[in-house]
Order: sequence, then C-alpha cells, then structure tokens
Amino acid sequence: MPFKVLISDPLSDDGIQVLLQAEDVEVHRQSGLSEAELCSIIADFDALIVRSQTQVTKDLLSHATKLKVIGRAGVGVDNIALQAATELGIVVINAPDGNTISTAEHTMSMLMSLSRRIPQAYLKLKQNEWDRKSFVGVELNGKTLGIVGLGRIGAEVAKRAKGFNMQIVAFDPFLTQEKAEKLGIRYAGLETVLAEADFITVHTPLLKETKHLISHKQFELMKQGVHILNCARGGIIDEDALYHAIMNKKVAGAALDVFEIEPAVNHPLLELPEVIATPHLGASTVEAQENVAIDVSHEVLHILRDLPFKNA
Ligand code: MLT
Repeated sequence: MPFKVLISDPLSDDGIQVLLQAEDVEVHRQSGLSEAELCSIIADFDALIVRSQTQVTKDLLSHATKLKVIGRAGVGVDNIALQAATELGIVVINAPDGNTISTAEHTMSMLMSLSRRIPQAYLKLKQNEWDRKSFVGVELNGKTLGIVGLGRIGAEVAKRAKGFNMQIVAFDPFLTQEKAEKLGIRYAGLETVLAEADFITVHTPLLKETKHLISHKQFELMKQGVHILNCARGGIIDEDALYHAIMNKKVAGAALDVFEIEPAVNHPLLELPEVIATPHLGASTVEAQENVAIDVSHEVLHILRDLPFKNA
C-alpha cells in the first residue's frame, strides 16, 4: 500500500514533483478545505503537508488516526498544535532554511520603503498628484537598527543593514558574544536595544514568551519618532499598543508583513498613513517556495520510510 500524503495548502510544483516521483507515495492536493472537511478525510492519510493557511488543531489531530508526520513548508509552526501532535506520536517537521534570504530581503525592502515613504508617495502619484513636499524621508546611513531575535533571518538582516552603514544593536537570549563579534554587531539587553534604536525589527518565532514582547511598556522605552518593522509573526508586537504609539507620535512609522489575525482586512492599523504593509509576503519568492517545498517533501519521505531525518 502506498503512503498517502495530503497537501492542504498551495505548494510549489518542485516539491510536489519530489513526492510524485516516489513510487511508494500517493499524492492528494486539496487546498482551502474547512476544518470540518479536513476532519472528515484526515484518517486516510499518513502525512500532511501545510504552509500557514491550514490550522492543524487538536481536534483535527484527534481524527488523524494514521498520521505519522506533518510537514510545514516554511519556518513558523504556530499553526500546528504541537503538544497534541507530540502526545499522539506525530512528528512535526519544518523547513527552517529555505526562506531565510527571501524574508531578510523583504525586511530590507520594508526598511527602505518605510524610511523613504515609497508606498505613500506611490499611492499619491497613482492618484495623479505630484506631491514632493509630503514625503521627506530619513537616511538609514549612521542610524541604529535594533534587531530583536538574531537567528537565521535576523543575522541576514544585520549583514545587509551593515551595507547601508547602519549601526546594529541586537537582543537574542541565545546570542553569544562570539557570534555578535563575528557579525560585527553590538549585543545588548532588550531594554537597551529598544531605547537606542532608530529602527526596530523583530525576528523571533511566536511563542508564549514572545507574544506581545513589544507592548505599551516597551514602546515607552523607545526613542521619540522610532520606526518599527515586523516581518516575523503577528502577535510579537501588540497591535493595540502599536496603534496608540503611532497616535501619540512615539512611533513615526511601522512596516508590517504579518498580523495577529490573518488575513488582516479592515484592520485599524491599515487606516493610518504611518503604516505600510504587505500581506505576509516575506517568504513569497519563487526561490523560497521551491526551497521549502523541496526540503519538506524530502523530509516527509524520510519519515514515512523510517529513515533518518534532519529536524523535528
Ligand atoms: C514562514 O514561517 O515560513 C513564513 O512566515 C512563510 C509562511 O508562513 O508561509
């Protein structure tokens, strides 16, 4: 009997090819299913591959009687009920490397768009208004970039920001002096990073410990006129606190790729001219989607075949 693999979110064709070429696998592609629909079919499958849309809940897993592995084509596993999966002996794997560069590059695009107010100026011009007065920006040169979370993506952002002659100060509970020195950046506690930075970008996963890591108290510590970026996960920054910090002019601008609830439509932050935003596009490049799909498909095959695999 072939292993049955359900792919419940859009996955790059290159990853699907890896699975289609495997003789011992039967691939089913069904995106956009409701939780109830998923619950009614999941018992048939040995493996489930998702991106961020499918919510792999405890309830769904209670119906997954055959499921051996859940593969997340991407980094964040916050859409998967990890504890329930562990209790049921289901392995959860992700693709931690494949979209690092794309997300770092997206963060840099947001940093530059934010500092020069490019999206706002673009909107005006598209409305046939030649307005040169309203969009005076600030240079990145010589400014301090505070990085909260210096894992793979944070470190790539640091390297690129140094190319713009920014000073980097970073906080990460796992950062060693040696790594900071190697990257040519300054290591500091969270409060110092928040107090010293002109631009602050977060690159942590969303965990119990990082939920609302940046909230009212943390905004108070920041410089007047600070700029904030989140291309990591909605919820690391308390959206309500950010809204207030923009309204009282503490925050001069914010660039958001992620929101606490996605899709984020009719969101109060999107009404503010200080906020620029993209709909969770950090990893949306051809290269990143190929990388994560191929990586996760290989890993899923290894687990189904009881072969050694890289991450869990
Ligand atoms: C990730 O966690 O890999 C990115 O946020 C991209 C995604 O959710 O697909």
